[in-house]
Amino acid sequence: MSTVTFHSGERIPLEMHKVRIVQKLNLVPIERRLEAIRAAGNNTFLLRNRDIYLDMLTDSGVNAMSDRQLAAMMESDDSYAGSETYAKLEEKIREIFGTEYFLPVHQGRAAENIISRVFVKPGTIVPMNYHFTTSKAHVVLNGGTVEELLIDEGLAVTSTHPFKGNLDVGKLEALIKTHGAERIAFVRVETGTNLIGGQPHSLANLREVRAVCDRHGVMLVFDASLLADNLYFIKTREPEAANLSLREITRIIADMADVLYFSARKLGCARGGGICTRNQDHYMKMRELVTLYEGFLTYGGMSIREIEALTVGLDETMDEDMVSQGPQFIEYMVNDLDRQGVPVITPPGGLGCHLDAMRFLDHVPQTQYPAGALASALFLVSGVRGMERGSVSEQRDAEGNETYSNMELLRLAMPRRVFTLSQVKYAVDRIVWLYENRALVGGLRFVEEPKLLRFFFGKLETTTDWHAALIAKFRADFGDSL
Ligand code: F0G
Repeated sequence: MSTVTFHSGERIPLEMHKVRIVQKLNLVPIERRLEAIRAAGNNTFLLRNRDIYLDMLTDSGVNAMSDRQLAAMMESDDSYAGSETYAKLEEKIREIFGTEYFLPVHQGRAAENIISRVFVKPGTIVPMNYHFTTSKAHVVLNGGTVEELLIDEGLAVTSTHPFKGNLDVGKLEALIKTHGAERIAFVRVETGTNLIGGQPHSLANLREVRAVCDRHGVMLVFDASLLADNLYFIKTREPEAANLSLREITRIIADMADVLYFSARKLGCARGGGICTRNQDHYMKMRELVTLYEGFLTYGGMSIREIEALTVGLDETMDEDMVSQGPQFIEYMVNDLDRQGVPVITPPGGLGCHLDAMRFLDHVPQTQYPAGALASALFLVSGVRGMERGSVSEQRDAEGNETYSNMELLRLAMPRRVFTLSQVKYAVDRIVWLYENRALVGGLRFVEEPKLLRFFFGKLETTTDWHAALIAKFRADFGDSL
């Protein structure tokens, strides 16, 4: 990876692109943000973009597209069947992943629906490094159970382990021994493990997982949605990969998977998804469900223009300058916050910067949703929208009891090539201020709690009027600044 040394000695990431299309942002006064966050029931999913300054909710479908992607969208072939646009994508997939068969789908969870419907039977088990919300939901919907076999270090909030997303192969062996290989629907490895802070797995670990699968005749499914970030970490943190190109690393990974799927809202900076395999039998089993749930095989629910953009986007993901931008900005943000004493997940991962709400708001008990409270407080004092990734994102058990999550995180996603360093510095500045004033922040309680996916639609209120206290301190410290 090319690094540029600054004469000043400062270490900052340097953009290897220039901005040619922009979207105007609003930074509204804190009093307006109070109205907005109250109306949203302290749920950042329910905010409107007009009230948001930096949207760090997700990197899904909001990465900046390149000039080459936009140009390709102009010359798409809209044929319902046999589209030339689709043929280009199929060819690009074959070139990059080396997989013979490809199935297009409208987004990542649609791939999960199809894979789970075909391979998960009632009573089967899907071991994985860690779950993602939608991947677990589809396994459970089809009568399977998820077993999380992350290495122990993976859940350590602060760590120097370079590959916290690794799957513990000892635990995998033990699980297969206990239940028998026939109970295992497939092993799922998620690259750039989302819910533990975008943490990568290594090539070496994947090789070990593959060996266990081979020994027991078990299928390996690879969720490549966050592959771009993981490629960066393999290249920079795993010595054996230092001299390999991103294409070579990608092929090593893809060659180990029986089925590889991805959300193109993340991988390839477009909107869509896909399932790749070398196995004709797997392909034939999944194919009919694509036409049933997604669309004909040459678009799979994706807009044809997005398919053009995805083909170019996948090609650009093989460029080191492209994949390093996100992780380098995240590293800058994490290290800057860490240096100033703010509790963050370390080492820096992909996807975004993750604040550890359990330590940030250590006076707010888990029963009062510290990550949700932190999301509300940060939006109020900055206009930065993050995503609660803690107990609000969990579901109650069958008896109606809370299931508290392992980690209470506020995720501040870094969409690729979207924000500038000064915007990141602004976010850091307000987060540090909030940390110094954290004693003013209180908890939340539900006022509307949907049974399913409560984090999308649920509304909460503050346990005391701590918003008012934060605004008073903000005005005292910043005067009439926005
Ligand atoms: N797998 C992973 C690892 C993901 O992060 C996501 C989506 C999906 C599958 C599902 O893909 O959204 O296209 O249906 N993650 C988004 C996020 C929603 O904000 O992290 P999708």
